Amino acid sequence: MELEVRSKIVQEGDVRKKRAVLIKEKTQHSGNLKLRDQIMQKYKTVMITGASEGIGRSFAETFAKKGHDLVLVARNESKLQELAIELKTKYAIEAHVFAADLIPVGAAQTLFEDVASKEITIDVLVNNAGMMQVEKLHNCDIEGLNRLIQLNIQSLVNMTYQFIGPMIKRGSGKILNVGSIASFMPTPNFAAYGASKAFVLSFSEGIAEELRGTGVTVTCVCPGMTETKMLSHAEGIEKYIPSFLKADPMVLAAEAYKACMKGDVVFLDKLANKLLVQWATHYPRWFVRGINGIFARIK
Ligand SMILES: NC(=O)c1ccc[n+]([C@@H]2O[C@H](COP(=O)([O-])OP(=O)(O)OC[C@H]3O[C@@H](n4cnc5c(N)ncnc54)[C@H](OP(=O)(O)O)[C@@H]3O)[C@@H](O)[C@H]2O)c1
Repeated sequence: MELEVRSKIVQEGDVRKKRAVLIKEKTQHSGNLKLRDQIMQKYKTVMITGASEGIGRSFAETFAKKGHDLVLVARNESKLQELAIELKTKYAIEAHVFAADLIPVGAAQTLFEDVASKEITIDVLVNNAGMMQVEKLHNCDIEGLNRLIQLNIQSLVNMTYQFIGPMIKRGSGKILNVGSIASFMPTPNFAAYGASKAFVLSFSEGIAEELRGTGVTVTCVCPGMTETKMLSHAEGIEKYIPSFLKADPMVLAAEAYKACMKGDVVFLDKLANKLLVQWATHYPRWFVRGINGIFARIK
């Protein structure tokens, strides 16, 4: 009799424990759903520049997976159309394509007007399109260099300028700018690229403070070496990088998404990148510059 009672108590205890676990899971699930609904209400539509390749493409997939509608921008229209169809089918979202070269002066304004004429509201702007040139300045193709400066700097500023106005009016929005670990140090052999990314970081941090209290947040994502076409085309750099240092663009995009939704101002992926940036910002500039110069001359 005593045994029966004891086993009943044990069974009841088990049931209670199971129920508690179920309730906890349910609460967490509905909590996640609530958070997801809140995100979707405020940040439904995301514009991604440079969405046809690499990190931009990974951003498109990441936002689509979370349920956001997309506005995809790059020059290659057929690649964007293919991606739009793929993501619409896979994730039941809306995806619009705007093929545009963002380099010419006025491109950002034209894009803004085109999007507005289709009555699309941009809640999140991902300024990802960028280009790189690996060469000593005096050996550079100056046309290419000017295009780099226009795309990495001028276009990013103009896109931000155009799209934050309506975000400020609505009291909500997000800007996600793609910088680089090169934002934190001089980069001999690709000096203009590094300097353009230093601009992106400084600009992002500056406007993040200007926009404080408006409901619009700015996040600067600073990736290290990431496995994309850009890296494989950056001759002379890729071969020196051990594979464990190279990031998978999908992993980077997923982590950057979280940082953007949290409203973090600066985001670095991978421990190695964080350590490198710690090193570059801890030591005096002459020392960091000198070490980077030695590495550049070894090449
Ligand atoms: N990969 C890395 O290791 C690394 C590291 C740190 C930071 N980043 C930064 O991450 C961003 C993306 O780089 P990624 O590696 O993904 O480069 P990527 O593979 O070369 O892709 C670049 C994207 O930008 C678009 N694009 C290029 N020129 C454009 C123009 N004039 N107008 C509109 N779109 C243009 C390209 O599409 P179309 O050719 O179709 O226009 C493509 O979708 C860049 O800002 C880059 O500086 C990359």
